[in-house]
Amino acid sequence: MQEYRDNPRLHLVRGEGNWLIDGAGKRYLDGNASVWTNVHGHNDPDLNRALREQLEKVAHVTLLGLNHPIATELAEDLAGLTGAALPRCFFTDNGSHGVEVALKLSFQYWQLVGQESKRGVISMEGAYHGDTFGTMAVGGRSEFHRRFSPWLFAARTFPAPVHSECAGRVARSDASASLAALQALLERDAATTACVILEPRVQGAAGMVQQPAGFVKAVAELCRQHRVHLILDEVFTGFGRLGALTVSELEGVVPDFLCLAKGLAAGYLPLAATLTSEKIYEAFLGKFSEGRTFFHGHTFSGNPLACAVARASLRKLRPMLASGQVADRAALLGREMAAAFADHAHVRTFRQLGLTGSVEFKPVSAERWPTDVRAGYQVALAARRHGLIIRPLGDSILFVPPISIQADEVKHLVGAVRLAMDDALPGLMPVSSQPQP
Ligand SMILES: Cc1ncc(COP(=O)(O)O)c(C=O)c1O
Repeated sequence: MQEYRDNPRLHLVRGEGNWLIDGAGKRYLDGNASVWTNVHGHNDPDLNRALREQLEKVAHVTLLGLNHPIATELAEDLAGLTGAALPRCFFTDNGSHGVEVALKLSFQYWQLVGQESKRGVISMEGAYHGDTFGTMAVGGRSEFHRRFSPWLFAARTFPAPVHSECAGRVARSDASASLAALQALLERDAATTACVILEPRVQGAAGMVQQPAGFVKAVAELCRQHRVHLILDEVFTGFGRLGALTVSELEGVVPDFLCLAKGLAAGYLPLAATLTSEKIYEAFLGKFSEGRTFFHGHTFSGNPLACAVARASLRKLRPMLASGQVADRAALLGREMAAAFADHAHVRTFRQLGLTGSVEFKPVSAERWPTDVRAGYQVALAARRHGLIIRPLGDSILFVPPISIQADEVKHLVGAVRLAMDDALPGLMPVSSQPQP
């Protein structure tokens, strides 16, 4: 908050396509897609129309014991994402809750089918699944969450694979140790494990950490062999981010639970959905006295305005993906990043997959900067001067543009980061290899 207080506040008052505009009329490309949510740009006429039409009907109807047609229609659209393999949909209103629901459903399912000992969760190191207590517990103990460790239930973890690529060029790739560790955990603990949870192909909040193609399928196969649920958290990767509607579709994997949020309502309104199979749904059926009810309700779950925008977004996104536009932009992003960063003295590493990327900075003549230098943050602030909103993570910058980004905008995105680096980084005072506090 002190950094926020000490720096000029940026109030964004309008959006136009992939750009945000401040009170003085200055335009910024939204290189953060409004925290990874934006699909078709801001102020999109089709989404605006869908929102207005729904607003004329009703702004909110609770899904607690009631329903509205647009939720049913959207649930049917979403069932189509998995070829009807996951036809059941539980709506909430943010990604953390979408994941929390999957965890609770898995836990309760095993109790309902008489396997009470299956309670544990296995997650991958570096994972981020949200900021609620359940999702913090199954996420990595990063500086976001470490403080709360005493309150978090224990989850078992396995290492992430080693994989790094940009513009389709793989720098290094090895999933064998990761898969062997998961297999060993499952062989030992499947009887006490409810589920494995994974952000497929890219761990966003870890810094766009990548997995090789085929890894998700191998994880799914291990889960199937050991009768443990697989939860795919596609809160970040869903809706075009990696060039398809979902990574599940890209990788040909059907999990037991598929969590969607962020791009689901295209960055307009909060909405999340947890999809699951008929088999799991049926375990929850029974007389009230049997205690099968899944008690989980949020006031704005499945809000009709959000559902209306989500349907309109899906209608636009399918043809956009089929046209190859997103794949072209992703390839361009990779090429631009490689050209800008490959030989830059301040770049430690960079990577790109789909419309995701990251570049990590380093001092030229020392191992790292002191923590309070905040190199990534300084570059993000400098980028504003070059007409770009972008988010830092430690000493790196994350590239997450709207799915609708245009070719000239991809060039602006990478070019503005490069200019901002050259503005901000040479003046930062490095520290020699002193241990950090
Ligand atoms: C993979 C993943 N899961 C869950 C979440 C949490 O979503 P929300 O911020 O909507 O609660 C995020 C947010 O960044 C995410 O990246």
